[in-house]
Amino acid sequence: MLHQKKILLGITGSIAAYKSALLARELQRRGAEVRVIMTPSATEFITPLTLATLTGHPVHSDFTENKDSGEWTNHVELGLWGDAFLIAPATAQTLSAMVSGTCDNFLMAVHLSSRCPVIAAPAMDLDMFQHEATQSNLKILKSRGVPIIEPESGALASGLEGKGRMAEPESIANWLENWFRSKAPLAEKKVVITAGPTHEPIDAVRFISNRSSGKMGYALATELNALGADVHLISGPVQLSAPAGVQVTRVETAIEMHTIALKSFETADIGIATAAVADYRAKSSSSVKLHRDEIPTAIQLQENPDILADWGKRKRGTQVLIGFALETDEGVESAKSKLARKNLDFIVLNSTQNEGAGFGTDTNQISIFEQNGKSHIFDLKSKKEVARDIVTILLTHLPQ
Ligand code: PMT
Repeated sequence: MLHQKKILLGITGSIAAYKSALLARELQRRGAEVRVIMTPSATEFITPLTLATLTGHPVHSDFTENKDSGEWTNHVELGLWGDAFLIAPATAQTLSAMVSGTCDNFLMAVHLSSRCPVIAAPAMDLDMFQHEATQSNLKILKSRGVPIIEPESGALASGLEGKGRMAEPESIANWLENWFRSKAPLAEKKVVITAGPTHEPIDAVRFISNRSSGKMGYALATELNALGADVHLISGPVQLSAPAGVQVTRVETAIEMHTIALKSFETADIGIATAAVADYRAKSSSSVKLHRDEIPTAIQLQENPDILADWGKRKRGTQVLIGFALETDEGVESAKSKLARKNLDFIVLNSTQNEGAGFGTDTNQISIFEQNGKSHIFDLKSKKEVARDIVTILLTHLPQ
């Protein structure tokens, strides 16, 4: 959730400022880009050099960079840069200045000019925190839509114990991640995706399968998770590791995938079938390895359940269903027939006729046919970009 997010980290004059160094590190570790602004009093607790070294960017605490040359720092530009302005620690003084709109230092000027959401993580002694004035300031800030990351209880710098110490860097990073998630376009949407091939056993070591690598399904899972969705990926046997933040259930056979997929679809908002499910399995298989002379020259097959068709039969209300069609010819008619037959909202066609499309590759070339008659043809792209194109169309199918 914090990947490529631009976080403006404001540090004010509290002993908790030392934790801001760890916070900056933690945010970066989770993929965020961090720029730091400090109040003059914060620089007495921790040096700008520490934060500049950690973030790889100069730290700003004054309007002028160089008093002799008149070179100045553009507080408006910084205010516009961030996706969020996190003030941590936020002292009682800063909270009060935020309420009154006081603009007596560089950080407060950025506060007034920032267009991104401002978030405060207060830090102070317990009596200062409990004081009516502080509580009233917090109430006003909350009423203006400024989220407050509650301080924690424990030993304070004064030697007293109580509520007032700034939340730990990891808790703040978690809070921020959840906050971005709640604002994401697919927040609270549950998606179930099937991916990869299935292995249908002949004996203990041999199976029927296909060339699917799982890359298309995993790319979609990653993209949907980045947009805040709660993603359940049901994966056949592939060499890919679980995308961060995605719940993965690994299966071998179509029957296993079918059972888990039907259960997961019951509570899902969106179902996406990228898996290349084996249409047939061996009617009987051996639990031990067959010797060469025991292997039958003909294997009797039995039809596997069609997972996507069964999702289509169970689809209800606002559930959205997306299928894939892998064809070796142009495939438009066949894709459109699957779109109707399996009760889909749209189908993604990829044809092995197009070089770089379909199985195994890092790229794909797709066309999308919607149930409302619209169609879209895309160029050859990376599977990550293809996932984005699919999600863009998916978003138009969700209830507003
Ligand atoms: O995994 P990669 O190497 O990245 O390759 C991606 C892909 C080519 C596998 C993928 O883009 C793709 O096209 N997946 C569907 C492949 C396929 O089996 O298509 P189909 O035309 O046989 O099936 C149509 C749809 O029904 C598919 O959504 C399929 O998941 C689903 N299906 C099919 C049979 C079955 N028993 N159960 C199903 O759910």
